[in-house]
Amino acid sequence: MANPKAVMNTKTKTKSRATTTSVHSTQCSGGHSTAAAMSDDLVESYRIKMASLPDQLMSEVQPALTTSGGKVTVVGVGQVGMACAFSLLTQHICSELALVDVAADKLRGEMMDLQHGLTFLRNVKIEASTDYSVSAGSRLVIVTAGARQREGESRLSLVQRNVDIFKGIIPNLVKHSPNCIILVVSNPVDIMTYVTWRLSGLLNIF
Ligand SMILES: NC(=O)c1ccc[n+]([C@@H]2O[C@H](COP(=O)([O-])OP(=O)(O)OC[C@H]3O[C@@H](n4cnc5c(N)ncnc54)[C@H](O)[C@@H]3O)[C@@H](O)[C@H]2O)c1
Repeated sequence: MANPKAVMNTKTKTKSRATTTSVHSTQCSGGHSTAAAMSDDLVESYRIKMASLPDQLMSEVQPALTTSGGKVTVVGVGQVGMACAFSLLTQHICSELALVDVAADKLRGEMMDLQHGLTFLRNVKIEASTDYSVSAGSRLVIVTAGARQREGESRLSLVQRNVDIFKGIIPNLVKHSPNCIILVVSNPVDIMTYVTWRLSGLLNIF
């Protein structure tokens, strides 16, 4: 007959081994599920990070530019104005060209001529209007508008007519392009340049 104590011990040992085994197995499966949970958390956190990545990459670093910075306006599309416009295009001086004149039909015709010729030039945006808003954001404005010298008329007697014309041009240009440089061509050129300076309201620059 077996020693009951020994039997009991054997049973206990067996039970205890079983218990140990069962604990071990619980630990093993617990480790797996913890690791799985951790990896799920990691995946989720990466997923969240990646989801917000486009927003982070596309966030505004600098406010968008409204113009290219290379815009030139020519006021007056007569002989001198169009010579200026053509030179600007062939010498690749501007990326945007705006034309302004009071003669709407002539303006449209000149604009279309230049646009058709763009096939042979670099890509430049050309616009034209009788409204000065088309000149907005210009870096340089070339003013060639003016009354024609009548036969026998001196350049000085032309002044008052051109001053009146400039009163309608210069404040509008400055309103739409407050940081532009104004290049005056209209005659008498020295006087009209001074008139432009006075009309521009930019008196504090000197
Ligand atoms: N500084 C120089 O070296 C020089 C050389 C040549 C000509 N110019 C002068 O340049 C000016 C232009 O000469 P041009 O031969 O081209 O004359 P143009 O008559 O051919 O052209 C003048 C243009 O100005 C436009 N215009 C008139 N009033 C206007 C207004 N209020 N707003 C907008 N546009 C207006 C007209 O519609 C016309 O298209 C003249 O004053 C001329 O004396 C100066």
